[in-house]
Amino acid sequence: MSQMKHIDNNPSTPGKCKMEKSPYSRPRLHYSLAKLTFWSFVFIGSIFFFFFRSPSSSSPVPSDLSRRSLRTSSYGGPAWEKRIRASAKIRSRNGISVLVTGAAGFVGTHVSTALKRRGDGVLGLDNFNNYYDSLLKRARQSLLEHTGVYIVEGDINDAALMKKLFDIVPFTHVMHLAAQAGVRYAMENPSSYVHSNIAGLVSLFEVCKSANPQPAIVWASSSSVYGLNSKVPFSERDRTDHPASLYAATKKAGEEIAHTYNHIYGLSLTGLRFFTVYGPWGRPDMAYFFFTRDILKGKSIPIFEAANHGTVARDFTYIDDIVKGCLAALDTAQKSTGSGGKKKGPAQLRVYNLGNTSPVPVSNLVSILERLLKVKAKRLIMKLPRNGDVQFTHANISLAQTELGYKPTTDLQTGLKKFVQWYLRYYGNGKKSAQ
Ligand SMILES: NC(=O)c1ccc[n+]([C@@H]2O[C@H](COP(=O)([O-])OP(=O)(O)OC[C@H]3O[C@@H](n4cnc5c(N)ncnc54)[C@H](O)[C@@H]3O)[C@@H](O)[C@H]2O)c1
Ligand SMILES: *[C@@H]1O[C@H](CO)[C@@H](O)[C@H](O)[C@H]1NC(C)=O
Repeated sequence: MSQMKHIDNNPSTPGKCKMEKSPYSRPRLHYSLAKLTFWSFVFIGSIFFFFFRSPSSSSPVPSDLSRRSLRTSSYGGPAWEKRIRASAKIRSRNGISVLVTGAAGFVGTHVSTALKRRGDGVLGLDNFNNYYDSLLKRARQSLLEHTGVYIVEGDINDAALMKKLFDIVPFTHVMHLAAQAGVRYAMENPSSYVHSNIAGLVSLFEVCKSANPQPAIVWASSSSVYGLNSKVPFSERDRTDHPASLYAATKKAGEEIAHTYNHIYGLSLTGLRFFTVYGPWGRPDMAYFFFTRDILKGKSIPIFEAANHGTVARDFTYIDDIVKGCLAALDTAQKSTGSGGKKKGPAQLRVYNLGNTSPVPVSNLVSILERLLKVKAKRLIMKLPRNGDVQFTHANISLAQTELGYKPTTDLQTGLKKFVQWYLRYYGNGKKSAQ
């Protein structure tokens, strides 16, 4: 069978059901009436089955089920493989070939572009879920298409697809950025965090440990693992065992899972703890993004305040600085040592903070945006809810500085100016605005 058809019925449910071939992907006229009736029952039956099984399907937010809406995605065939090979082809001396997961995401798009520009082979993978505006993901996809990066549409939990990709391309590196992000959304759709950040991570590591050669893996953890810590700045050696959100807990779990795969299979693993990344093509669920949208709309914006009028501050990090850190982590990653699923010797295991080292109060962020947009914001001071957001983040980056040569160079003012320029161009001066 040269064509492999997949239907990802309900990825948020453990032990998800998957059919090798969907009867709906190719309706045939000569199907007998009996067959049609039979499959209609199967179809309607499975909808009901998953509707009642999915814990989040009753909530108004899109669950994983409605998100993928039983859409079939197809892959396979010589043309598809040719596209993959072309995208992953190394074009510079000493270049690497990288599988970038979450390539249609904010960070994934920028990292993929940077790798491709310097001559590395890049293949993207993304499931294009609609956690936020998927038109923005499609726009990033066409941006990447122009630079020669192809994004395979699929889920990191799809082991057959992942294995197939490694059969086609012997990737030297994996840049793993696919995840369910966002702190507060974890209360609405907790299973999406388990699906992508835990099950998906294990699925990816499983494929990588069996691949020959095993790739070196760099992946995105988060500053949120520092949770309720009060000692600043946050250093890699600080404790990370009291997360304040399920999101943080899944990232922390990821770091422990990484330790295991490094220990048992000799996978070279580097975790990067990003600190509030912002910039052009950013994520609409993040404050700097929806503040911009709401200020332009004349809507009031909530500014959180901690107990006793305490300031809420973030170590905002500009996307170009993060990209440099990601590339440096890939370039300094040693090879994995295992082969055939067996460890041959100790392999590299690293964790780095990638921040900006200068926390800025959120009210200052708003003042900068007001100046750039030339619109006064309607500020609504509110108590910081205890549902995952921490009062401040502040990175100690000396480890990344010495070992990766990481040195952020963009301050918030400069970075936001670039973001606002992009925003106004992309959304047309606020006439058509982000939902
Ligand atoms: N942006 C930040 O401030 C920040 C801070 C800390 C950590 N991180 C981490 O960095 C990484 C990238 O973040 P981002 O801001 O670009 O987020 P993003 O949501 O824009 O990108 C993630 C991409 O992964 C895809 N994806 C999600 N689950 C998937 C799955 N199961 N299979 C395939 N694709 C899947 C999504 O469709 C999305 O395009 C994430 O791991 C995130 O947790 C980001
Ligand atoms: C930052 O971390 C390094 C170790 O990586 C440590 O030596 C140094 O003391 C830390 N700096 C501060 C200000 O905590």
